[in-house]
Amino acid sequence: PTSAWIDTDMGFDDLAAVLTVTQTPPWRVDGMSLVAGNAPLEVVIDNALRSAACFGWDFPIHAGSDGPLVGELVTAQNILGADAMASAGRSLPRTRAPLASSDAVAALIDHLSAADQPVTLLALGPLTNIARVLQRRPELATRIGQLMWMGGSAGSGNHTAAAEFNAAVDPESINALLDAGVALHMVGLDACRQVRVHAADAEALRAVGTDKAELLADLLLGYVRIASPAGTLPMSLYDPTAAAALVAPHGMSFRPAHLVAECKGEHTRGMTVVEWRVPRRAAANAQVASVADETQLRRVVLDALARAAR
Ligand code: BDR
Ligand code: CA
Repeated sequence: PTSAWIDTDMGFDDLAAVLTVTQTPPWRVDGMSLVAGNAPLEVVIDNALRSAACFGWDFPIHAGSDGPLVGELVTAQNILGADAMASAGRSLPRTRAPLASSDAVAALIDHLSAADQPVTLLALGPLTNIARVLQRRPELATRIGQLMWMGGSAGSGNHTAAAEFNAAVDPESINALLDAGVALHMVGLDACRQVRVHAADAEALRAVGTDKAELLADLLLGYVRIASPAGTLPMSLYDPTAAAALVAPHGMSFRPAHLVAECKGEHTRGMTVVEWRVPRRAAANAQVASVADETQLRRVVLDALARAAR
């Protein structure tokens, strides 16, 4: 496949992931569904429509779920800022592209039903929209050829000690997808932590010399500074690593595993429990990212950002 539908909670690393797809020929984006996660849905919509205007996206963008299947939305605004862009004072131009609809679940159902080939999905946030699609139309699981998801972890968490953020926001959705039999490829935190960017990468991007290069360099620098305020430490690429694994599949190795999300634990809600000992202890129900080729994957992302800046 060389096209994907993207489901995203549009913070800065989501934007970098979308640009990784749009700027890696021959890949293109069929459509986009938005979900609350990094920030409340209104902020996610604003980021997506402003990004679309700025970077000239021509695919339809649909607003979706404003909170998880169960419980209240928690956002990452404490880390990414109110605009979820890690922006350190820098923001996207105010012009917005139009919103195609406010029913992303219906739009994704239509897209899956109409496609003549199995559809590739790239999911960069909580899995709420996709779980709602399959709750309404379970038979559409077989129309999803591959669901590449940044989320979960085969190691420790970030939102809590046990849980990665996208998994922590909506763990019930993960199990709903697995129960529906979706071909899930999980690119977890432990895989993403192998692919890092540095302040120097932001400066190399700035050297492209356009207004968009300034914008992306400032946003990337704000993102790197999440790891250390002075920008001296590298920062892991989360969503862009999943996007790069999609468009450059030799850069990431996946292993079959049995996956389940913990939905009850007092200290472990949102933990993705990975049983690697398949089929001995359990039947595999997912492919889980294990070893990343850092050199290749960060190049794919940084080259795409440089092209987006031109
Ligand atoms: C994930 O959480 C979000 O804040 C990022 O956009 C990424 O999808 C990392 O845990
Ligand atoms: Ca995200």
